[in-house]
Order: sequence, then structure tokens, then C-alpha cells
Amino acid sequence: MYFTLLFALTCLVTCHGFVGTDEKNESHCGLLKSVLDYTLLSVKMDKNGFHREVITTVQLGSIVPSSIRISLVYQWPKGVFIDPYQVTSQKEHSNWQILIDSAIDLEVPAHKTEGFVSYAYPTNGPSLRLRKVIIPIHGRYHEPSAVGKTFISVDIPAPDLLIRSDECTNLSDMDPHTVVNAPCTADNASICSWVKVHFQELGHMSFQLPVGDSSLVLPVCGGTLLVTLICCVVLSKYMWTHRTVQ
Ligand SMILES: *[C@@H]1O[C@H](CO)[C@@H](O)[C@H](O)[C@H]1NC(C)=O
Ligand SMILES: *[C@@H]1O[C@H](CO)[C@@H](O)[C@H](O)[C@H]1NC(C)=O
Ligand SMILES: *[C@@H]1O[C@H](CO)[C@@H](O)[C@H](O)[C@H]1NC(C)=O
Repeated sequence: MYFTLLFALTCLVTCHGFVGTDEKNESHCGLLKSVLDYTLLSVKMDKNGFHREVITTVQLGSIVPSSIRISLVYQWPKGVFIDPYQVTSQKEHSNWQILIDSAIDLEVPAHKTEGFVSYAYPTNGPSLRLRKVIIPIHGRYHEPSAVGKTFISVDIPAPDLLIRSDECTNLSDMDPHTVVNAPCTADNASICSWVKVHFQELGHMSFQLPVGDSSLVLPVCGGTLLVTLICCVVLSKYMWTHRTVQ
């Protein structure tokens, strides 16, 4: 009788525990969904010329549970690069950590490289509603244009905002958002499932970079050669007539 009671009690506690966890997960998923509904993302480009800044602002809804994590994913075209040393040196006062998916060669021109992906993770408290990250980017030199263009346009897509919750493990039913895999943190030690927030109105940014004109290569080189030859002839003649050469 005693044992039966104990067994029943244990079962009650365990079963109750189970239901509790389930309900907890569901309420956390509900909170995650409400965060998704009230999230705003804006992005703009600042500065001029080859050296620009991409400024992204994330505004989360009014209640931000401490289990919420966010990340920004940038798909950079081959026309620009991020300087990893510059990003590392800014880490102390930026509150964001940047993870880059490939090694960056700062020197190569645009046509000899590929685009790359970077992830940004906030390092300050999870419950902060408004966050801003400034990413310095640099234009790469482009192949001279054969059709006489003097500027080339570089298009940069708006970043994707990823959100997840440590407490919500079932990410089904997140329409119209999609679920993607991405590194959990900037040290890329593990991969997490994230909700990629769907924003309708975000387009892309573009900026102009000057390019050389390859149709000018022949006249410019020919002209330079001609001027050099004329100078040589004139100089030789001068030295000959004035007998500077013994
Ligand atoms: C994260 O690590 C995995 C395996 O170590 C690697 O394949 C992947 O490219 C890394 N991702 C980034 C963004 O560095
Ligand atoms: C509920 O969340 C916890 C972590 O908070 C997890 O360990 C558990 O597996 C989840 N349960 C379900 C049914 O998803
Ligand atoms: C996840 O939630 C959906 C409903 O939102 C449910 O149909 C599905 O069975 C759940 N999956 C798991 C593994 O709990």
C-alpha cells in the first residue's frame, strides 16, 4: 500500500514535470513568435568613395525574453571586402562580434575573387531592444571597362535577421518566416536552427566605384611611347650637337 502510494506520487511528479516542460516550450515558442511579429530592421550606407559603412539597426518588440538570440547575415558581393583586422580592432567598443566564412585577401581586384558571408552577433545583454551595428566595407578595384564606362555599380543585398530562443526547440509553424541553420555564436563551435525573419520592404543598397577605360589602353600607351621616343631623339641630338659626349 505504501509502495503503491509512493509509486503513484512519483508518477504524478514525473508526469507533471513532462507536461510542465511541454507547456513551457510552447509558451516560449509563443513569445518567440511575438518577438518576430514586432521586429523591425533597417539598413543604410554611409560615407563616400571606396570606404563605406553599412549601418544596420534592429528593433525588437517591447517584451524581449532573456532567452532570445539574434544574428545578422550579410551576403557580400565580390566588389567589396571587410578588413578582418579592422573589425577585430573595433571589437572592444562595438558590442558586436563578426564571423567571416572565408579568408579575405585585401589586395585582389574584384574579378579575381568571390563574394563571402559574414555573421554579426551582439555581445551585450539579450534583452536590449534596440541594437545598431556598423560594418566598415571597402570597394575592390575593378577590371577596366572595355565599353568606356567610368563607374561601376556595386549592389549589396540587405542583411538577413536571424532569431532563435534557447527555450523554444520546435521551430515548425513559423510562417511566413523560414528556418535556416547558422553558427550559434561568433566562435562557430556549433550550428543552431534559426528563424529567418521575413521582411517585405527591404531591397538592396548600391554604390558607384570608378573604373579604368580599357579602350584607352592603346592610345595612352602609344602616346607615352611616342613622347618617350621624341624626347630620346631630341636629347641625343642636343648632346651630339653640343659635344657633351666625348
Ligand atoms: C563553421 O565551421 C564549419 C566546420 O568547422 C565550417 O565548415 C564553416 O565554414 C564555418 N562557418 C563559418 C561562417 O566560418
Ligand atoms: C523543452 O525545452 C527543453 C529545454 O528548455 C528541452 O530540453 C526539451 O527537450 C523541450 N521539450 C520538447 C517537448 O520540445
Ligand atoms: C511542433 O509543433 C507542431 C505544432 O506547432 C506540432 O504539430 C509538432 O508535432 C511539434 N513537433 C515536435 C517534435 O514536438
